[in-house]
Amino acid sequence: MLFVPRGLRMIDYRMSLDGITAERLQGFFVGWPDPPSPATHLRILQGSAAIVLAIDESSGQVVGFINAIGDGVHAAFIPNLEVLPAYQHQGIGSELVRRMLVQLTEYYAVDLVCDPDVQSFYERLGMRPARAMVIRRYDRQSGA
Ligand SMILES: CC(C)(COP(=O)(O)OP(=O)(O)OC[C@H]1O[C@@H](n2cnc3c(N)ncnc32)[C@H](O)[C@@H]1OP(=O)(O)O)[C@@H](O)C(=O)NCCC(=O)NCCS
Repeated sequence: MLFVPRGLRMIDYRMSLDGITAERLQGFFVGWPDPPSPATHLRILQGSAAIVLAIDESSGQVVGFINAIGDGVHAAFIPNLEVLPAYQHQGIGSELVRRMLVQLTEYYAVDLVCDPDVQSFYERLGMRPARAMVIRRYDRQSGA
């Protein structure tokens, strides 16, 4: 197996699901008690209004993703952003957000919900803190 130093991994960013199968979506939803399967992950991406995928060119595997849902006119919501642990701290998460915000640039509202420790990450990318109200049905965490 060819050893490629982490810093030299080439990452390709894509906004389409062309050629993406569940097999290329392994390892996400780290720490979730009842995570969506890769097949359900693919359905989530297929149902989204916009996506950005980070793909390791050497393996073809998806190593990061962000998705947005929206009304097509006024508002969009970003439910998920994740970079696989082995690929974190290399700027991939920031690049996924930047590319998603470009896609959503015409919308009045672009919202997401995050834990306080990640707020500074999003603030650096131009977002600002706000309050949110949510429902979480944990018996549905793996997908409806
Ligand atoms: C958040 C996340 C997408 C960032 O991806 P990434 O590729 O590492 O992001 P970048 O390399 O562009 O930026 C990393 C910086 O973001 C900040 N950051 C990221 N996650 C953080 C966290 N949980 N707490 C505090 N700071 C965090 C740090 O400043 C970090 O800097 P460092 O690399 O010097 O430590 C990634 O940590 C992840 O997938 N986490 C698990 C899922 C998650 O929390 N998603 C966000 C849901 S709202």
